Amino acid sequence: MQAYIALTPGDGIGPEVVAQAQRMLDAVAARYGHTFRYTTHLIGGCSIDQHGTALTDEALAACQSADAVLLGAVGGPKWDDPNAAVRPEQGLLKLRKGLGVFANLRPVKVHHALLDASPIKPEVLKNVDMVVVRELTGGLYFGSPKGEDVVNGQAHAVDTMEYTESEVERVVRLAFQMAQNRKKKVTSVDKANVLATSRLWRRVTNRVAADYPDVTLEHMLVDTASMKLIASPASFDVMVTENTFGDILTDEASLLAGSMGLLPSASLGESGPGLYEPIHGSAPDIAGKGTANPIGTILSAALLLRYSLKLEVEAAALENAVEKAIHARACTPDLGGKLSTSQVADYMLEQF
Ligand code: NAD
Ligand code: IPM
Ligand code: MN
Repeated sequence: MQAYIALTPGDGIGPEVVAQAQRMLDAVAARYGHTFRYTTHLIGGCSIDQHGTALTDEALAACQSADAVLLGAVGGPKWDDPNAAVRPEQGLLKLRKGLGVFANLRPVKVHHALLDASPIKPEVLKNVDMVVVRELTGGLYFGSPKGEDVVNGQAHAVDTMEYTESEVERVVRLAFQMAQNRKKKVTSVDKANVLATSRLWRRVTNRVAADYPDVTLEHMLVDTASMKLIASPASFDVMVTENTFGDILTDEASLLAGSMGLLPSASLGESGPGLYEPIHGSAPDIAGKGTANPIGTILSAALLLRYSLKLEVEAAALENAVEKAIHARACTPDLGGKLSTSQVADYMLEQF
């Protein structure tokens, strides 16, 4: 097949990990007789430096016309001044909103070869295989009013957590559909004892659940969920939650797998291109050193093949290449290995 993939490498380690994922995609294309065409676009701090904005309308339009978008990461100390008028992260939010990708799938698996890479006890990590479905285009990130002003002579800031019924329904429905093809359990995470948005979320979730009688639904408060994620992570199958909670819980969940650098994500909407990105950031502390773990981005490329290009065999082949590298501990320093970012991909390509 022919496919058009827009690359938005971004800042820090973003370009380093996207370059390796692109090499793997090229290997997939060569082995299976596909043609992948790429265009590359600025996003984040590099776009602010060049254009004064974190994502130009032209770059967004190019991404919207692609079959899929593969992103690295945005941000870094250079653009972190709390007084700055523009921020790298705005580009990412504009891209997610502009693509309408409301459901962010973040799978979390523990590889047996990496049991010692996690700070959690190996017996707790056994059988961990879950996916967090994070609502991505609503909640605190996008609610209005938002911003700073002065009230009674004092600096004042506001962020608004808001959800409509349909925003909740579409993402929860997707979570139930995923659970039907997995272990048939959905854990909906909220803060219904305090937040009105969470009570709406719970009501809608209960209503949607009636359409999926084969799936068990449990509700869990987010503070409890953050504890259970460490105490009994294998008890989860599909976790669905609002934007901010999902952001925080998945960084926590990455420690089950062993490193922030391992977790991929797929962001999907009703139609149009999906957005694929590792869950980690631009990692300024290791940027430029060639030691960033490329696996989260390579696994994101596998999800791109699966969900946007419908190339299941190819996606599985890429995941298998990652599996073999992990098994052999052909890894970067975050996993106790000695390989560089590109050497990890070299290893996978040799086996591919
Ligand atoms: P981070 O995820 O960049 O880094 C957290 C820690 O994990 C660091 O110690 C880092 O070295 C390590 N790490 C992350 N990815 C790794 C990888 N692939 N291999 C090995 N180690 C890895 O979070 P942060 O330092 O809090 O944020 C840095 C910047 O990234 C901020 O500007 C933030 O806004 C941005 N950020 C962007 C995204 C994104 O683009 N999707 C996600 C999170 C944070
Ligand atoms: C992530 C990041 C982003 C988020 C930031 C950089 C806007 O933390 O993708 O997890 O909060 O969604
Ligand atoms: Mn995050």
